[in-house]
Amino acid sequence: VTAYKIDHLGIAVASIDEALKIYRALGLAETGREEVPSQKVVAAFLPVGESRIELLEPTSDDSPVAKFLAKRGGGIHHVCFAVEDLDAALADLSRRGFRLVHRQAVPGADGKRIAFLHPEAGHGVLIELSEGSS
Ligand code: CO
Repeated sequence: VTAYKIDHLGIAVASIDEALKIYRALGLAETGREEVPSQKVVAAFLPVGESRIELLEPTSDDSPVAKFLAKRGGGIHHVCFAVEDLDAALADLSRRGFRLVHRQAVPGADGKRIAFLHPEAGHGVLIELSEGSS
C-alpha cells in the first residue's frame, strides 16, 4: 500500500454552521456539502493545500459521529489517506493481519470509494482510505 497524501481530516462537530466560523476566520472556504448515508452524516468540504477539512455533522443519533460527539465532545474523528487502488490496499492490509471495518469499498463523499480500518489498527486513530484524488 502506498498512501500518497492526506486526502482529508474528518472533524466531528455538533453544527457545521457553528464550526465554519473558525475555519472561515482561518481563510478556508466551504466548497460543498453533502449527505453521506453510509456514515449517517452531512459532510462540508473545506480545501486547504492539497488536502481538505471535512466537517462531519451527524444526521441520526446512531451515527458513528453522534456517538463520538457524545463520548468526546467533538474533535478529529478520522484521518483519510488517498491510495491509487483501494481494493488492492484492503487486500494487502487484511493479509498483513490489520483489522478492517470495511473489507470492501463503500461509497463515501464525492462519489469516491472509501473504507475504514478498525481503530485498533491505527492505535486509537480511525484511518480511512479513499481511492483517487479529490
Ligand atoms: Co472521511
